[in-house]
Amino acid sequence: MATLTVLGSINVDHLLQVDHFPRPGQTLTANQYDIVAGGKGANQAVAAARLGATTTMIGCVGEDAIGAQMVAQFGADGIDTAAIDTVPGQNTGLAMIYVDSQGENNIGIWPGANAALSPERVLAHHDRITDADLLLLQLETPVESLEQAAELARASGTTVVLNPAPARDLPDSLLRHVDIITPNETEAEQLTGIAIDSLDDADRAAQALHQRFGIKTVMITLGKRGVWLSEAGEGRSIPGFVVDAVDTTAAGDTFNGGMVTALLEGQSLAEAVRFGQAAAALSVTRMGAQSSIPTRDEVLGLLASQG
Ligand code: RIB
Ligand code: NA
Repeated sequence: MATLTVLGSINVDHLLQVDHFPRPGQTLTANQYDIVAGGKGANQAVAAARLGATTTMIGCVGEDAIGAQMVAQFGADGIDTAAIDTVPGQNTGLAMIYVDSQGENNIGIWPGANAALSPERVLAHHDRITDADLLLLQLETPVESLEQAAELARASGTTVVLNPAPARDLPDSLLRHVDIITPNETEAEQLTGIAIDSLDDADRAAQALHQRFGIKTVMITLGKRGVWLSEAGEGRSIPGFVVDAVDTTAAGDTFNGGMVTALLEGQSLAEAVRFGQAAAALSVTRMGAQSSIPTRDEVLGLLASQG
C-alpha cells in the first residue's frame, strides 16, 4: 500500500459567519460562531485519509485541551498521529476566520505550536519521510524545516509535493527539491512575478517554475476556471465542477489531499487533478475546514454523475 506523509500546520479555526466583512472601526454581530478543526497541514492530511490514503502527519499542537481533542479526531479519521508532538508551554495554532454571505473568507493566523516544528523535530521523525512514497508540504510551518524535510525526501526517492500556501517568497533550495507544485493564481504570481489573468499567463508561469527550479509538474489552481496542468513543459487546462459556494475555506487543502491520494493509487496526473477537483467542489458547498471535507463515496458519486 502506497503511503503519504503530510508535514504541516494544525490550527483551531474560530469561524464567524457574517453578512459582510467588518469595515475598519466597525463592530459586527455574527450570524453564527463555530470552532472547527483546521490548519492547512491538518486539512490536507484529513482530506487524504478520508479519501482513502494511508496517511501519517508530522506536526505540533500546544499543551491544551483543544490540541489533544484534534489529535484524537485525526486518529478517528484514520491518520497515524505518532509523529504529532505536543509542545510544552505553547498554545495550539489558531485561525480567526470570517466567512461572508458570498462564501468568501478573511483569515488571521496565530502560529502557536506550529512555530515549534523545527528542523530538529523533522529529523526526529525522519523515517516517516524516508519511508513514505509521497511527502505533502504547505507554508504554515517554518521554512527551514520544510527544506530539511524536502531534502530527506529527495535523498530517499520520496516524491515531494508542495502546496505553496499561504503565498510568500521561498528559497530556491526548497523549490529545487520539489517534484509537483500546486500554487493558486496569487501564489504562482508570488513565485514567478507573472500576474495570472488568462490561461496563457498560467502557461508562462508554469514554464517559469519548470525552468527556474526544475519542477517537473506544475498544477496552477484557477478557482472557477479549473486547473492548469503542466507536465515537463506541456500544458493544458482541466475544467472544474460548478457548485454553489457556501465557504471556500480549505478548498485548496481538499484539492491537494484528494489529488495526492489519487496519485498514490496509480491514477494519471490528469485523473488525479479531476479527483482533487471533485473533492474540493464538495467541500465548498459546506461550512468550515475539516467539517467540509467529503468522504470517498461522495467524491466517486460526483465523478460518476459528471462522466
Ligand atoms: O486553508 C485553510 C486553513 O487556513 C484554515 O483551516 C485555517 O486554519 C488556515 O490555516
Ligand atoms: Na468549506
